[in-house]
Amino acid sequence: MPNRVKPPAVNPFRFGRIVSGDAFTDREADLLVLERELRGGQNILLEAPRRYGKTSLILEVKRRLEAAGIAVAYLDCMLVPSRARLADRLASVYLDAFKGPAQRAEDWVVQHLKTFRIRPTLTIDDHGHAQLSFEAGSAGAPSLDALLEQLFEEPEIIGRASRKKRVVVILDEFQDLMELGAGLLRQLRAVIQHQQHVSYALLGSRQALLRKAVHERSAPLLKMARPYPLGPLPRAEFTAFLMARFKASGRPVPKEAVLALIDITGAHPNDTQEVAHFLWEVALLPLPSQELVSTAIDRVLDAEAAQMTVLWHDSAPAQRNLLVALVEWGGRNIYSEAYRRRANLGPATTVQRAVQTLIDRELVDLEPSGAYTIKERFFEEWIRRRIIRGEL
Ligand SMILES: Nc1ncnc2c1ncn2[C@@H]1O[C@H](COP(=O)(O)OP(=O)(O)OP(=O)(O)O)[C@@H](O)[C@H]1O
Ligand SMILES: [Mg+2]
Repeated sequence: MPNRVKPPAVNPFRFGRIVSGDAFTDREADLLVLERELRGGQNILLEAPRRYGKTSLILEVKRRLEAAGIAVAYLDCMLVPSRARLADRLASVYLDAFKGPAQRAEDWVVQHLKTFRIRPTLTIDDHGHAQLSFEAGSAGAPSLDALLEQLFEEPEIIGRASRKKRVVVILDEFQDLMELGAGLLRQLRAVIQHQQHVSYALLGSRQALLRKAVHERSAPLLKMARPYPLGPLPRAEFTAFLMARFKASGRPVPKEAVLALIDITGAHPNDTQEVAHFLWEVALLPLPSQELVSTAIDRVLDAEAAQMTVLWHDSAPAQRNLLVALVEWGGRNIYSEAYRRRANLGPATTVQRAVQTLIDRELVDLEPSGAYTIKERFFEEWIRRRIIRGEL
């Protein structure tokens, strides 16, 4: 018998992209609510900071709805640079989602899009994937407006005709549509507020734009959807999930190590998986738990060095001073004379300006407790280790 060669162990922790299947944990309560609301015709506004798992979660909801016979269209608005491109992308995702399994793409287009003033061109790539494009860029603005309006109306027509009398449209990072002109979301609202057979899931993370899109009194999508803020993952479940994956991959780690890791990341889904990924790499080193975790964080900071350096470079001196002060002295009473003197921050107006810029850049947050904090835990740790302690 030939010797069996053991396959190399595979790192079971994934970060930075959509997770599904056994890499996706918990969120059971969220899944139930979201599925029920969307099935019932309720629009949802799923709001969370970057990398909290919005897309992974909604794609899981999408799978469940589809298993129940409801068609779901998904569009990532971050990838849509113009209104003309929005028309193409919407038509393509509708085709993808709403075409019957036995239907040819050509037939669906003829059936649904024949009334459009600008005829779409259908292309089918090597993988059999269908794309539509209108060349709407060359048609004048009035035709593009009319085209978008017809596209916004399309899901209702399909929903009404469907067996379940319902379709779902997911607009991921929808706040980015604000950047395609002030009128666009108003136009969307004007159409979708009359729809009876479509539920919208709006996913967003960029706070400044979200305020303008949905929260301010004059916002185009004000009160159009049930707000559903998404928190970090529950600590106990996340701990159990991580422990189980360390063990199943042949590299068990002590529970203290996982608890220490979650303490540092605050159970932020992506950050936690990222530290776990690097903890798995060093898990076989003969080190006590705390040192293992610290070594893993060092590896994260090395991996993220380019991004951290850009954040630092893009900060003016007053912002840098303040960032360092927040790490060294905490974020309370930062305008007080004692704080400013201790941290060498200069006049209160300078601090005020620096704070505002850092908030606008979404690097710093004002907590409900009144303390200012650095939003990204890795950036905070990078400043502590690389700038304050001067570690290499
Ligand atoms: N339910 C989950 N179980 C385990 N890990 C998760 C879960 N949700 C998110 N994550 C972690 O977070 C990462 C980011 O997930 P995802 O891309 O879905 O988040 P997002 O909020 O859509 O991010 P972005 O702001 O970049 O759009 C994943 O790669 C994974 O490491
Ligand atoms: Mg996402």
